Amino acid sequence: MLMPNPNYEQLTISVVQIAKVVGRFIQTKRENFSTVTIEEKGKHDLVTAVDKAAEEQLVEKLSELLPEAGFIAEEGTSSKVGDVYNWVVDPIDGTTNFIHALPCYSISIALKENDQVVLGVVYEITRMECFYAWKDSDAFLNGHKISVSQNAILDNALIATGFPYNDYAQLKEYLRLFEDLLTSSRGVRRLGSAAVDLAYVACGRFDAFYEYSLKPWDVSAGAFLVERAGGELSDFQGSNEHYSGKSIVATNSKLHDVITTKISTYF
Ligand code: IPD
Ligand code: CA
Ligand code: CA
Repeated sequence: MLMPNPNYEQLTISVVQIAKVVGRFIQTKRENFSTVTIEEKGKHDLVTAVDKAAEEQLVEKLSELLPEAGFIAEEGTSSKVGDVYNWVVDPIDGTTNFIHALPCYSISIALKENDQVVLGVVYEITRMECFYAWKDSDAFLNGHKISVSQNAILDNALIATGFPYNDYAQLKEYLRLFEDLLTSSRGVRRLGSAAVDLAYVACGRFDAFYEYSLKPWDVSAGAFLVERAGGELSDFQGSNEHYSGKSIVATNSKLHDVITTKISTYF
């Protein structure tokens, strides 16, 4: 049955509940984790049976919530294409951390209405922190409104990035940019979950985040959170193509020009 006007707030609250339930499942599996379940999809690109089982649960629960919606899901559990609505799902963003029992891995869920993201949920499982927002809303962390930082000085900024792990074509440019930003800011962090990096920009823990060679399921929910929290986004060329994940820079908006200018020096 078609839902004429989905209530995005109600939908988001339901997605938050789903993320917490599946997050508990993932955490229980972590406690009894066996390395036997690890597969390599590509060079250094890991997946476990837990990623797949979690995605199956997410697809089932999200299908009940919005039956007409399709899926763009990392592990390919559903090939359904929605005419209007599509969920963009990463069941575990930060699988390498999950495998190595490092803190920081998340569930990332966005809903697209045609080409627009209309809700985003990032649930960081190890700290039980749920970041969420819906169309025209504020952004929230566990019930509290969040917003990007107010820092306008690069020298005072804490920046997040992700290191390329199998796409080394632009490694030299990336390392030159890294050196530049490392020496002109308070520091650069690599947490291992792009969705969490973006959620942390949204709540002001990081002033900026940049990475390339990502996928829509890594960035859709987190980029939407940054938008709703007052931040600014673009790709490395300064265009509005960041939801593809090919390259993305997300900032508190005050630092967007200075960081994109540095990026354009190298890319
Ligand atoms: C990865 C994480 C990581 C980023 C990688 C992604 P995965 O996602 O977001 O931070 O640097 O490029 O592939 O594989 O753990 O879902
Ligand atoms: Ca991911
Ligand atoms: Ca993943």
